Amino acid sequence: MKDTSRIQCAALRSKIMSATEAAALIPSGVNVGMSGFTGAGYPKVVPSALAKRIMDANVHGKKFKIGVWTGASTAPDLDGALAMVDGVEMRLPYQSDPTCRKRINAGEMEYIDIHLSHVAQFVWFGFLGKLDVAVVEVAGVLEDGRLIPTSSVGNNKTWLEQADKIILEVNSWQNLHLEGMHDIYYGTNVPPHRLPIPLVRPNDRIGEPYFRCDPNKVIAVVETHHPDRNSAFTPPDANSRQIAGHIMEFLEHEVKKGRLPVDLLPLQSGVGNIANAVMAGLDEGPFNNLTAYTEVLQDGMLQMIKSGKLNCASATAFSLSPEALAELNADLERYRDSIILRPQEISNHPEVIRRLGVISMNGMIEADIYGNVNSTHLMGTQIMNGIGGSGDFARNAFLSMFMTPSTAKNGQISCIVPMVSHVDHTEHDVQILVTEQGLADLRGLSPKQRAKVVIENCAHPDFRPALRDYYKRALNQAEPAGGAFE
Ligand code: COA
Repeated sequence: MKDTSRIQCAALRSKIMSATEAAALIPSGVNVGMSGFTGAGYPKVVPSALAKRIMDANVHGKKFKIGVWTGASTAPDLDGALAMVDGVEMRLPYQSDPTCRKRINAGEMEYIDIHLSHVAQFVWFGFLGKLDVAVVEVAGVLEDGRLIPTSSVGNNKTWLEQADKIILEVNSWQNLHLEGMHDIYYGTNVPPHRLPIPLVRPNDRIGEPYFRCDPNKVIAVVETHHPDRNSAFTPPDANSRQIAGHIMEFLEHEVKKGRLPVDLLPLQSGVGNIANAVMAGLDEGPFNNLTAYTEVLQDGMLQMIKSGKLNCASATAFSLSPEALAELNADLERYRDSIILRPQEISNHPEVIRRLGVISMNGMIEADIYGNVNSTHLMGTQIMNGIGGSGDFARNAFLSMFMTPSTAKNGQISCIVPMVSHVDHTEHDVQILVTEQGLADLRGLSPKQRAKVVIENCAHPDFRPALRDYYKRALNQAEPAGGAFE
């Protein structure tokens, strides 16, 4: 059911129209900044209406393509619909849609994989060209035209400020209790006028709960009532439980050594099932009064807030299963004081991550014996998703961990390799590697020392002999007089 009362600004109420009419205002060849981050807060109807228009144009022999910029991944009714009709000339900065991925890997869609904290500033610097249109989902419009953000913030602040024209989708499915949960920081100037970001604790509020929006730039307002795309997580399997176990043991060891406080440091947890399983491990673990400074808030973290393990979480988006979402929505007021959603340039900001001393835990495709990590390309050539925020966190974290099962494809492929087939995170940004086999602490180790620890602690036993053999040959090549692997 549509809810017109969510649009309190008279000037914007006069611009209400259908998705088809709004999509007709987007010409071919423009760059469109869409809201959306991991299936949360993306526009639900205008992209599909645009896809239909593109298909009609194609039927009449006309080429119709746009540039699509987002916060991160979206959903089949945005990325999928536009990719299906081959309507995307350039996609950035992160996607995880199967059709989109297929087009990119077939060379039919250009794709720029960008650190998520870089996107907004690149637009402000003018590095990516002109942003013509913003299509942004909001939960409501205030009388003075300010906008209530949704289940994700992403790059919306920048899209609303930088685009010439704005199309708003006002989605009455979005819970109105979200109002007040967001912290939109307007102090990010471009160099040489930049100032420090005054955020010293994960739950600091440094901005405003609403987006500012110039009503004169708004060309259409479309009312919707559509749910976010929420995917279920698989229950933690033996591998992810073992990975979580190794991480728990390591964190306890760090606390004993006095390198971490008993309530740890702010946690960042990446996307996917393993990251979610690690949170489940922490929920059952010995640590209390935890905090999170992360990019997405998955089920595991929500559960930790519920159980009282996690005092507060700062993120840019929710990324919940349908069950967890229903739970959140039923009790949103209760969570509102413990969760803050921020623009992704702040949730992923190197300065803040370094200052807070974040413990960063992200998934990977493969790592090599020297500690280089591939997060994005299968066999070095086929893009999976993108680097997302993993680089923002890995380089600047207090502790930077990457985790994966030791093998892929039913044990046929080793995820520990002699040299990664594509590098996203160099050996200089990677401190800890974890597989179900064990954990390799690479801090303070030379490349030769790292190779031994990674092979013996992380590689699957089936692949260890081949890796040892590789390393031995590498040593003998580097040191013809000896240096054999002990
Ligand atoms: N070689 C070949 N294929 C491999 C592989 C390897 N070394 N490792 C994994 N794969 C395949 C899997 O078999 C699976 O294939 P399928 O889709 O056909 O089943 C696919 O890659 C995904 O693997 P999976 O183990 O399910 O991945 P995941 O859900 O744990 O995600 C990443 C792992 C790396 C893809 C994911 O973490 C990611 O996109 N990371 C980059 C972004 C990021 O870190 N964001 C968080 C920052 S805040």
